[in-house]
Amino acid sequence: MVLRGRERGTSEVRLNEELGGFDTPSAPVRARMSEDVRRALRDAYDRQVKDRDARPPPDWETLERDGFLNLLEQEEKHVLLELGAATGSDAAVFKAHRFDVLCIDLSPEMVRRCQAKGLVALVMDVADLRFPPNSFDAVYAMNCLVHVLKAQLPEVLAGISRVLKPDGLFYLGLYGGRDFEGIWDGDSYEPKRFFSHYPDEDLRGVVVKFFDVHSFRRIPHGWNGLHFQSLVLRRRRPAARGD
Ligand SMILES: C[S@@+](CC[C@H](N)C(=O)[O-])C[C@H]1O[C@@H](n2cnc3c(N)ncnc32)[C@H](O)[C@@H]1O
Repeated sequence: MVLRGRERGTSEVRLNEELGGFDTPSAPVRARMSEDVRRALRDAYDRQVKDRDARPPPDWETLERDGFLNLLEQEEKHVLLELGAATGSDAAVFKAHRFDVLCIDLSPEMVRRCQAKGLVALVMDVADLRFPPNSFDAVYAMNCLVHVLKAQLPEVLAGISRVLKPDGLFYLGLYGGRDFEGIWDGDSYEPKRFFSHYPDEDLRGVVVKFFDVHSFRRIPHGWNGLHFQSLVLRRRRPAARGD
């Protein structure tokens, strides 16, 4: 199955006939899409482990991480899950600040690289968080959920909310600002990767179903006409009973 990009109002729109349209894929079609996307992402990131480990993060990314780290320290939150930790460069900084960090990533090569740095890391999918409820003070996802199918985002957010403690914090960083879902033809990775991008208001509309928004900032350091969406979210407390 081939997934091509879909962008509203441009000639990039190429739906695969097999899918019967992106807007209303049936559950079995969605499962196949999801499996294909996951396999390609795993292979793409496995092949890039050396290059990504050598890549110095841009300054604004470091500031983002450190801003979240400071907030966690202020709130005395020290048990952290990192989603899509890749080679563990951010996780190593959290660990150096005495956080108890658990890394997950889809790519076995990335996980091995984390483990070689002395980090606790598991091959696991963000769509299938196998942890008990209320396990973590905080979840950190720098540029990972950009690879989740739009149809799957609500269940992924619900899973993150479930593993967070009440009042737990969630850093969500994504490239976005326009409406796109599919494989980016200009990608230099092989296989080319799947991306989901959201206009700011669409993203806000999804996250508020699960979290209170502590902050939502646009950072103008994107690529390909996108900006960076920096969200700090807090697990919503169950509504108080009115009786
Ligand atoms: C763009 S990289 C970002 C890596 C790192 N957080 C950073 O900021 O440099 C995305 C990472 O998410 C991982 N990833 C993609 N889809 C995933 C999924 N469904 N579950 C877990 N990890 C995933 C990839 O293997 C890759 O390491």
